[in-house]
Parts: sequence; structure tokens; C-alpha cells
Amino acid sequence: MTKNRTWKVVLTGGAGFIGSHLLDELIRVGLGTSDLASDLRSALGFQCMEIHVVDNFLTGKRENLDDVLSAYDATDLARQGVTVEIHEADIRDRTTLRDILQGAHHILHQAALPSVQKSVEHPLDTDSINVHGTLTLLELAKDQGIQRVVFASSSSVYGDTPTLPKHEEMPPAPLSPYAVSKLTGEYYCKVYAHIHGLSTVILRYFNVFGPRQDPTSQYAAVIPKFITHALEGKPLPVFGDGTQSRDFTYVSNVVRGNLLALIRPHIDGRVYNIATGTRIHLNELIETLRRLLPDRTLEVTYLPPRKGDIKHSLASIERARSDLGYEPVVSFEEGLERTLAWYKHRR
Ligand SMILES: NC(=O)c1ccc[n+]([C@@H]2O[C@H](COP(=O)([O-])OP(=O)(O)OC[C@H]3O[C@@H](n4cnc5c(N)ncnc54)[C@H](O)[C@@H]3O)[C@@H](O)[C@H]2O)c1
Repeated sequence: MTKNRTWKVVLTGGAGFIGSHLLDELIRVGLGTSDLASDLRSALGFQCMEIHVVDNFLTGKRENLDDVLSAYDATDLARQGVTVEIHEADIRDRTTLRDILQGAHHILHQAALPSVQKSVEHPLDTDSINVHGTLTLLELAKDQGIQRVVFASSSSVYGDTPTLPKHEEMPPAPLSPYAVSKLTGEYYCKVYAHIHGLSTVILRYFNVFGPRQDPTSQYAAVIPKFITHALEGKPLPVFGDGTQSRDFTYVSNVVRGNLLALIRPHIDGRVYNIATGTRIHLNELIETLRRLLPDRTLEVTYLPPRKGDIKHSLASIERARSDLGYEPVVSFEEGLERTLAWYKHRR
């Protein structure tokens, strides 16, 4: 920490869906309104806080940042020692990144091209951002003495293993260029921990959903797509027969996993599933939406299954429980209600 004990944290991909929720929670940590604020303050020993968002706005949006920042009064933030800087920059741009990382303590690395389907069509772009971008960041983090890098990985690295729940000791079996890119990022994180002593922690997120997730892209995730289709009276597109299942994880749980990963000791180079430990079939998701939207008739269109999609996904969260003290705080149904409310309000 600096003389006035300022904690400098760099958040890559902060204009994206998950990144914007992390930004919100980091601000709340600085203001003392997050329930993890005192844990972070006592573990890291800071009085003031600088949050640096790095994003090239490839899939992220300025309106996500506005959505978060408009809830706070800038003068009030400054008075309470919280500053937020937004850097429009690419994580592969070493020169710019080096300047931003100067004096930083921690990195929450969310920036990526996050879509399985997009990676099937554009594997080189996926590799360039997710692998080369991550390696660039790790190399700079090592040179600049960063205290810890938390890396956003994905349940996709497990592939379509029939054994459930998926736990961290299982051999990975990626089925898409995206999954390969995330697994490669994980390996680089481990190797940097091992050979350079750079503290890295890897979090494998399972099907995250919540407000601000982009429903419009052709690669949109299923929950925002279903919600917007339902609100617009369009049939819900299901690839396959709807019996595929996922460990749908509300975004607040992922945010919590990241904050705990910043401060827990003796976890360098370790991998953690961040999920709920329960799974929901797509047909159950549709039934829940029908229950939450009783005044609408939800039609469903069944389409052929997509390449690279996996059939079932369910996490064991035991390791995160024991090492991080992680516990999901928002259930699937409550998360879906909150998400639905947000999209309704947005229209
Ligand atoms: N959403 C999920 O269900 C899920 C599941 C598993 C893992 N993840 C991982 O979580 C992270 C965040 O995903 P998300 O769902 O919020 O996606 P998102 O697309 O909303 O966010 C990614 C952000 O990274 C930024 N970005 C992309 N390339 C960049 C570059 N070269 N330089 C700087 N910024 C760049 C984008 O503009 C965007 O703001 C990703 O690493 C993703 O792989 C997400």
C-alpha cells in the first residue's frame, strides 16, 4: 500500500456484464456498504481505493458503466476516498497496460471474447484476446509485482463429461476454441504462480446470468435471450430438446467469489468452481419463466442442437466452500426474478 494506504485494483473487462457488477461491488467495498467490505479492509489494510477499469468496448458497453456509476455521487465517492478511472484500452497493448498497472496491487481479469459459438466461427480472435491477452497481462503483472491476479475461467473447460458434479480434479476436456483458450489461460496462470511466484487464482464460472447481460448479440446466453423473447412475445428458441441442464449462477455469487479470491491466503495457482451446486433443465427454466410471467403465453421453438454445446453442467462447489469460504448468496429463482425485473424496467 502507498503512504495514505490506497488500494489500487485493476478490473479488466469492467464494461462487460460481469465486470460491471464487480465494479459496483468494488465501489461498495470502498464505501463500506458491501458485506465483504470489512473483510477486504482488514485483509488488505487500506483507507482509500483506486479502481481502474480497462476495456476496449468490444462486447462491453459504456451504458453498463453509466448504469453503475450513475447510482453514486462523484463528490461523495471522492470524499470517501474512492476513485474510479475508466481506460479505453486493449489488454494486448503492453505499453498502455504497463502504465495502468504502475503501482497496482491486484488485478481482476474478466476481459475476454466470452462466447463458445463465436469461438467456433472466429477461433483466431478468441485465441488472440483470451490467450495472448491473458499472457500479456500476466507478464506485466509479474514485472510490476502485482500481489494477486484473479482469472475468470469457465466451466466449458470440463467439456461434456458424463460424471456430475464437475469438480476441479477432473481432467479437462475442452470442446470448443473458447474452452481451449480459457484452459490455456488457466495453465499460464498456474505456470506464472509456479515459476515466477506470481499469485494467481483461477475461478471457473458456471453459466452466469443477471442484469446487464447482453440479450441482443447473435451469441447471447440463454437466459437474457429467453427473457427478452418472452417480454417481446416471441417464441423462445431452444437448441435441442430442452433436457440439457446448467448450473445457472446469479452474477452476485460470482462477484462474491472474486472478492473472496482476492483475500484468502495459500491459494496461489489453485482452481475453483464458482456456481450454485444445483442444476436446472432448460425446460424447467421455461416453466419458471411461465410462473413469473403469468400474463404471457410463452411459445417455444425447438431447433437442432448446436456444435460445441454441452449436454449437462453441474458444479461441485466444495473446494470453494472450504478454501474461500464461498457460499452462493442468491438462488436461481431469486436471481431470475431480479433479472426479469431489470429487463422489464429497461424496456
Ligand atoms: N457470462 C458467463 O456465463 C461466463 C461463464 C464463464 C466464464 N465467463 C468469463 O467471465 C468473463 C466476463 O464475461 P462476461 O459474460 O461479462 O462477458 P462480456 O462480453 O460482457 O465482458 C467481457 C468484457 O471484456 C472486454 N474485452 C474483450 N476483449 C478485450 C480486450 N482485448 N481488451 C480489453 N477489454 C476487452 C469486452 O469489451 C467486455 O467488456 C470472461 O472472461 C468470460 O470468459 C463468463
